[in-house]
Amino acid sequence: MGRPRIVCHMHMSLDGKIVGDYLPTDVGMASQREFYALAYGPGRHYRDHKGWLSGRISSEDNFTHYRKPELDEAAAPVPEGDYIAVPDAPMNYFSVDPSGQLGWERNSIDYFDTNAHIVEILSGRASNAYKDLLRRLGISYLIAGEDSLDLEEAVEKIGATFGTEELILGGGGGLNWSFIRAGLCDEVSIVLTPAADGTKGAQTLFEADGRYTTAVPTAFGLEDVRKLHDGSLWLRYTVKGPIN
Ligand SMILES: NC(=O)c1ccc[n+]([C@@H]2O[C@H](COP(=O)([O-])OP(=O)(O)OC[C@H]3O[C@@H](n4cnc5c(N)ncnc54)[C@H](OP(=O)(O)O)[C@@H]3O)[C@@H](O)[C@H]2O)c1
Repeated sequence: MGRPRIVCHMHMSLDGKIVGDYLPTDVGMASQREFYALAYGPGRHYRDHKGWLSGRISSEDNFTHYRKPELDEAAAPVPEGDYIAVPDAPMNYFSVDPSGQLGWERNSIDYFDTNAHIVEILSGRASNAYKDLLRRLGISYLIAGEDSLDLEEAVEKIGATFGTEELILGGGGGLNWSFIRAGLCDEVSIVLTPAADGTKGAQTLFEADGRYTTAVPTAFGLEDVRKLHDGSLWLRYTVKGPIN
């Protein structure tokens, strides 16, 4: 079995930002509900996936709020390899956290009406104490790569372990760009919110991070444009690759 088909599904302001004061406004919330319905609602367009993948900063900003994990440094060695606490959750939150830093306190997250089981995506750098914490909390984990996270191995493991041929790549900009640069993104789906706040330096859809990626001109192929009920635009692109 190869890797799942990967769709980067994001909501974005008119000025290309994925975070900011436009989000909690009435216009921003109406657009977020349209975005949610396409990938997670009952009659969703993307229906073959079992969850979405997000980067560590997105998890800190939205769920763990930079809390430190409560580790037992004297914990007995955990068994080698991956740990699957809940194999059949209808929805999962695949949390990219290469070195095991997120201060989770329970094994699921809530996003609008969706409850998703947390599956940590770790590299070999995550400590025994961190894996022990995840086991105590009933959080699943997959290990991909030794010194650094192997993204391709990670998505192949997600496909094989959770029996899914589609995976939603759910940001933020740093993780999205890592996937684009690695050739691991098949479609970019953007819900363009009819709002902006003009904040200088706010996160955009794609962000090169010197530790993982570089900035490279890249082309996308427009597949479809639709107007959504609230006035948002739903834009779908294929990823063509680097251009000169
Ligand atoms: N509008 C939307 O649809 C939407 C969706 C999701 C998120 N967001 C927002 O986006 C913001 C965060 O975006 P962000 O770009 O700062 O961070 P991010 O993409 O959420 O997370 C970046 C982190 O992911 C890990 N990572 C990224 N590439 C990697 C690679 N190739 N190998 C291993 N690990 C990798 C690294 O973790 P380590 O530092 O631990 O190595 C890196 O620091 C949040 O504020 C969130 O609310 C918006």
